[in-house]
Amino acid sequence: MLLASVLIAAALANPQEAKLQALLPEVFAKSAAHYRAIDAAATPLMDKGDVMEAVPHGDKPHGERRVPHGWNAKTGKLDMRSIYWWTSGHFPGSLWYLYEATGDGFFKDRATVWTEFIAPNSKVSDNHDVGFIMYCSFGNARRLLNTGKYDALLLETAESLSKRFSPDLGVIRSWGAIDEKDNFLVIPDNMMNLELLEWAAKNGERGTGNGERGNAKRFDDIARSHSVKTMEHHFRADGGTYHVLNYDQRPGFLGAVQEIRRGQGLSCETAWSRGQSWAIYGYTMMYRETKEPAFLEFAQKVSDFAMNHPNMPADGVPYWDFGAPGEERDSSAASIMASGLLELSTFVPGDKGAKYRAFAVKQLLSLCSDEYFAKPGENGDWLLKHGVGHKPAGSEIDTPLDYGDYYFLEALLRFRALQPGS
Ligand code: GLY
Repeated sequence: MLLASVLIAAALANPQEAKLQALLPEVFAKSAAHYRAIDAAATPLMDKGDVMEAVPHGDKPHGERRVPHGWNAKTGKLDMRSIYWWTSGHFPGSLWYLYEATGDGFFKDRATVWTEFIAPNSKVSDNHDVGFIMYCSFGNARRLLNTGKYDALLLETAESLSKRFSPDLGVIRSWGAIDEKDNFLVIPDNMMNLELLEWAAKNGERGTGNGERGNAKRFDDIARSHSVKTMEHHFRADGGTYHVLNYDQRPGFLGAVQEIRRGQGLSCETAWSRGQSWAIYGYTMMYRETKEPAFLEFAQKVSDFAMNHPNMPADGVPYWDFGAPGEERDSSAASIMASGLLELSTFVPGDKGAKYRAFAVKQLLSLCSDEYFAKPGENGDWLLKHGVGHKPAGSEIDTPLDYGDYYFLEALLRFRALQPGS
């Protein structure tokens, strides 16, 4: 009786949150059924290699290993991609979140298999994505299994990623060969890779306490430096992001921005929605890890840009670019943003924090609706419809995206954790 009165009082105080809270069991149960179907379809398509097999540096002998990534609506087939594709950590990561959401041991077992399958990424230094590939998968495994057995692998990944950092420029190279002279390309997506470095800084080799810092502090230095330089260069005065910056490596011009490219966005003058979401999530995460006030301030600036943008639709699911009203929505931009905003709301007191939380709840309610959440058997069994991968390249337009699902599940879990008594 007492519990019923508390629930009624909570619903009256915040009907939107009460509505989302009531939906959670059903959405998690449906999501679990979807991912069981994807796992069943994908398992015969994995290669037969041993999991956790070591590979030499710079070599990629496991290119035949495939992880579910998306769905081809024309053929109706599951899109399986190499374990070196930038999203390979998201399917295993979603399985971990489903284990967390449901407690069902099936998801723990399958998450373990798929996570260990992508282990060779720990030795990869030819892209920046290894940070979140490995942290979404092994990072969640570590957290949910409360084990240190993957720590060496995660620390090795942090080493591999940090090879892409230029001390001269103060940033990590996102794309391109590690020694490329003409271009040094950086994208806001890179902020997502810093969470691994922050973990490594706290869990790697520590100093002796006699003035020696140990190896690990270096990872924090790199993550902070990258965040500060990105904050300085990668955004317009209004907080909107550029996608690709090309930094100058010539003596005399070192660290200057020599070129802006539209990348996956509509133009150099507009903000690509998912890039904006990566920034919202990334600066919030960097504040969590460092407690540096400038990162919190900046997380609010990039969030305010998105939330208050005149082209933001009423349901909170952005068009694929803020300069492309009326074109396709990108559900992945919404789920990443919702997850970031929920965390940001915990750091910002008063009305402002409440606005971030309310916006995220609105986005999640939209994503849980029939408009975005797929019915069993449609959408290749992925959860969210209407994602946009790379519109200028004509690739993955109005389609499910594995990372859209991952941040959707994460956001729902973050929302659940915010509820009283959870
Ligand atoms: N990091 C690539 C993307 O967001 O599409």
